Amino acid sequence: MRIILVGYGVVGKGVTTIIARRYLEKVKDYGFSPKIVAIADIDGAVINPRGLSPEKLEELKQRRAPTNPISADPDFGHPGMSALDVIESVEAEVVVEVTPVNIKNAEPALSHITKAFKTGKHVVTTNKGPLALAMPALTELAEYNNVYLRFSGTVGGGTPMLEFAKRCLAGDKILGIRGILNGTTNYILTEMPQNRVTFQEALTNAQKLGYAEREPSMDIDGFDTACKVVILANWVMNQKITLRDVDRTGIRDVSLQELDEAAKKGNTIKLIGSIENGKATVKPMEIPKNNPLCVSGVLNAITFFTEYAGEETLIGRGAGSMETASAVLRDLLDIRHKLANRLT
Ligand code: HSE
Repeated sequence: MRIILVGYGVVGKGVTTIIARRYLEKVKDYGFSPKIVAIADIDGAVINPRGLSPEKLEELKQRRAPTNPISADPDFGHPGMSALDVIESVEAEVVVEVTPVNIKNAEPALSHITKAFKTGKHVVTTNKGPLALAMPALTELAEYNNVYLRFSGTVGGGTPMLEFAKRCLAGDKILGIRGILNGTTNYILTEMPQNRVTFQEALTNAQKLGYAEREPSMDIDGFDTACKVVILANWVMNQKITLRDVDRTGIRDVSLQELDEAAKKGNTIKLIGSIENGKATVKPMEIPKNNPLCVSGVLNAITFFTEYAGEETLIGRGAGSMETASAVLRDLLDIRHKLANRLT
């Protein structure tokens, strides 16, 4: 499987690492041989139609844009070549799109994904922007072009929340979903009462840990959680909604005093994303500390309310370079599996 990687930040580097590390194992276990044939970054690309070797991938990781970008590589560098040109001109089966999130117009990821579809390439993305703004249209476009769109890293990072709902609960009916889907806000709401720090101090610590989005409003005003709710609603509940359909409140107004009041009752306050009775909502909610959903720190958790199996809760890390890269690899294997079944 030939892969074009678009975006070379934290997740992109994780993807090259996991593919290089797990290459031999995957070939042995699944007959799956992923080859990264191109990487497109902001100021150019590297291209090797035979696949960039694990050694070359390691070497590229030492480079730092803008002074020493990957496109300056003497063997395979293409300075100034755009991601759209790479997607159009390089032969590959899959585009892995991991550029930064933009929820205003979803660019440049939206153009990368549509270009990939139009040139017959499957897409794996961890980018919530295009899905939050245009998921119904994108899934239709993928079907029309007879390609797959996979996005398991967009919700729960490495924790397979979407797969759990779609596959493991396939025989049941999901009636509702509630989740702590954002690590940064969960960290802030955990730190404030535990370590008696202010909202701002807790946010600064979360940013240092590398979990927070570049634009903190994405996390604390609930946009990130709302994007994940949209993805869950479309993929798991068959609701054709976008970001504007989510009723959203962030955590800016949650005070230490409110957290202390909740604690006296054995409760705490969490930013909860939910889909209940057809309504998609993000808001801070008081929940009992002994509720399985009540995880602390940067952890994420999700509860599915099902008709027959009752409540099922999944807990795990919702972000991180290698965690999210493991979701990309999971999606690549899924596409490989689907393609193999198409042929039989
Ligand atoms: N900023 C996000 C979080 C990253 O804190 O959960 C993962 O989507």
